Amino acid sequence: MSTGFNRNDIISYLREHVSETRFQHCLGVEEIGLQLAPRFNLPQELIPPAALLHDLCREYDPELLLKLAGNFGIVIDDIEKAEPLLLHGAVAAATVRKELGIEHPEILEAITFHITGAPNIAALAKLIFIADFIEPGRTYIVSRQLREEAFRIEPESLLLKVYNHTLMFVLNQGYLFHPRTVAGRNELIMKGIR
Ligand SMILES: [Fe+2]
Ligand SMILES: [Fe+2]
Repeated sequence: MSTGFNRNDIISYLREHVSETRFQHCLGVEEIGLQLAPRFNLPQELIPPAALLHDLCREYDPELLLKLAGNFGIVIDDIEKAEPLLLHGAVAAATVRKELGIEHPEILEAITFHITGAPNIAALAKLIFIADFIEPGRTYIVSRQLREEAFRIEPESLLLKVYNHTLMFVLNQGYLFHPRTVAGRNELIMKGIR
């Protein structure tokens, strides 16, 4: 299926809306996403719009995220109310839908859930959740290790590792667990993924 969008248009749009550091991070997510796409049986063309735009609203302050989420009619749960940064995915998805006319449900899902992961998500959302954690610009030791393992282990085992490390990170930082992250991990364990 064509996404109907030209990568150059997305790049120019992104450049206008995020810092250079964030822009480079998005390119990194795209790069590793394209490399991992065949392991997830995903067509290459779905990767750039999802990867490049996932952090479009990452630099918005909490008040703006809450306001925009309200304007877009996004349902805000208690955890998101307490940590509005968690809304930068949902707000980005609503923004690219409105501003760029991107309607592809899997692209919008991947952008929405890239922060927490979630159960019952399509392969593209799994891939972007992973790619965000292991992109080449991530120097965190665990990211480096997973980047090396990424092409050797089963995609769902890789996904489980990203859930585990995300939860450990959240725990160590003293942040709130989002129930979607726990549910996404539980789903894999219940399926027998190790
Ligand atoms: Fe993000
Ligand atoms: Fe990101």
